[in-house]
Amino acid sequence: MGERYTQFNLRLPNGYEACLNDVARDERVLLCWWDRAVFSVLLSGVIRAEERRRFEPVLESLVAEAGIGQLSFERVEDYSWREMRQARMEPLQVGRFWIYFDANVSAPEGSVPLYLTEVGAFGTGHHVTTGHCLQALERLTQPPRRVADVGCGSGVLSLAIAALWDTELVACDIDPKSVLVTRDNFAANGVNAQAVRSDGMAHPSMQGPYDLIVANVLNDVLQELAPDITARLSPQGKAILSGISISGCDRIIDLYTAHGLTLEHRQEERGWATLVLTRPL
Ligand SMILES: C[S@@+](CC[C@H](N)C(=O)[O-])C[C@H]1O[C@@H](n2cnc3c(N)ncnc32)[C@H](O)[C@@H]1O
Repeated sequence: MGERYTQFNLRLPNGYEACLNDVARDERVLLCWWDRAVFSVLLSGVIRAEERRRFEPVLESLVAEAGIGQLSFERVEDYSWREMRQARMEPLQVGRFWIYFDANVSAPEGSVPLYLTEVGAFGTGHHVTTGHCLQALERLTQPPRRVADVGCGSGVLSLAIAALWDTELVACDIDPKSVLVTRDNFAANGVNAQAVRSDGMAHPSMQGPYDLIVANVLNDVLQELAPDITARLSPQGKAILSGISISGCDRIIDLYTAHGLTLEHRQEERGWATLVLTRPL
């Protein structure tokens, strides 16, 4: 059996963020996030009736105060990805990076080891788009000081960034499960970085400016994120964009160059494209 989680969702009008700090500090809370007017909290374990009482007084007073709030608890069976943890996956070499899934194996000399304890999120290194991003990171000559990893999945790109440079790093994903996986992988690799649940760069801790933004997400997400990604790059900052279907690649280039970036590198393989763009001085 995998671990079980409970998520509760609270619909509130804007302006109630601060009131929820008491809830967010509870030791059972793994992750809290806002999505439009809904505040969601993910707790470890199946929450029993008596445990609910720890949360309900705070929440219900908020609901009463807000007038139009609605509280709902739901069991989230889907968060049982730890069942997928297994040592069956063989280590993988991508350039200098050596991605491994079993703590008992040792890395080849000269490689940069990245240990993935959790494989329940996208980003084992096997996908061509992840490989392109890792190669693009290796090609960077100027160490970035501040970096954002948008759509972090397993956090594999962040692990690579933390292994290469001493940076201030923030990773985000729209999927709460990926955020938890990334946090586990950060802990397992001794990486001191933030992983937050965020739709694009909406989270308050993702305002930048960044010397490097990596975003391996699909074309439509890259289109939506173009204003934020381009605005949050510092002068000479670079964006590594991947997950792009080759057929839609020119549109992505047009969009990002229209926002002031210069195309530096384009890589295509098996239907996927990866771009490196720079913000000029
Ligand atoms: C292709 S995976 C990339 C994972 C990892 N960065 C890698 O390169 O292997 C894309 C990730 O982006 C996330 N994602 C999709 N839309 C997003 C959005 N609007 N904001 C943040 N993350 C998003 C997905 O949940 C998924 O984990």
